[in-house]
Amino acid sequence: MSVHTQSARMTTTRVRQMKKTGEKITMLTSYDYTLARLVDEAGVDILLVGDSASNIVCGNQNTLPITLDEMIFLTKGVVRAAQHALVVADMPFGSYQVNDDEAVRSAIRVLKESGADAVKLEGGQEIADAIRRMVQAGVPVCGHLGLTPQSVNQFGGYGLRAKEEAEAAKLIADAHALEQAGCFCIVLEKIPAALAERVTREVSCPTIGIGAGAGTDGQVLVLHDMLGLNEGFKPKFLRQFAHLAEPVKQAVGKYVAAVRDSSFPSAEESY
Ligand code: KIV
Repeated sequence: MSVHTQSARMTTTRVRQMKKTGEKITMLTSYDYTLARLVDEAGVDILLVGDSASNIVCGNQNTLPITLDEMIFLTKGVVRAAQHALVVADMPFGSYQVNDDEAVRSAIRVLKESGADAVKLEGGQEIADAIRRMVQAGVPVCGHLGLTPQSVNQFGGYGLRAKEEAEAAKLIADAHALEQAGCFCIVLEKIPAALAERVTREVSCPTIGIGAGAGTDGQVLVLHDMLGLNEGFKPKFLRQFAHLAEPVKQAVGKYVAAVRDSSFPSAEESY
């Protein structure tokens, strides 16, 4: 595993530069201090405190229930861990959709109370004005298009998005709207690779893909999924870079057995 030797903190300016220089951008989700520290030390450019915490941390069926207070709480731990990476916090469902004033207020709360470097919002033209005002207020914004999980009830599931021409055309227009509004990068989730490649070519800000092929400026995965902790979750786009569910269960099993047969703690492990 290559360890990042650069000591300087990642910035949104540097992320933008990486598109120009053709350096691939790496993003992974993080939800707690301990794992975020390891991910940061391993050299990831951006730690995303995703609202996927609703599923991964809280066990909810979708991302809708997690609150702004809960996102801020989780982000604080990740910010304390980040020595190098940029920390981006997701704005949860309901914290930016009602009106632009509330959206800007929520975004400012995230930066002020959690210490995150930037926020991420789902949507295109309909939230472009809110994003413009956030950026003017000094809040860097990452956009998110394609399969936007906060709209799961509208989509009726987590299938591939923008495979039809009309939705693809809207996504391209949305990407341009986000670029114009001042987004420093855009996440593209679960869309055809050719469409992601086209958006990446057309917009000046970097694109970061998940299930969007290899033609984006960077990639993002959910940490617990790529570590193989969710054994049953194996969509086509996901590569499991480790298979940690089994070692965790084995270690816990050994602990349970050692306590039950009184071999733990030993004399050496006692005071
Ligand atoms: O919440 C999340 O984890 C995300 C990524 C899948 C991009 O938005």
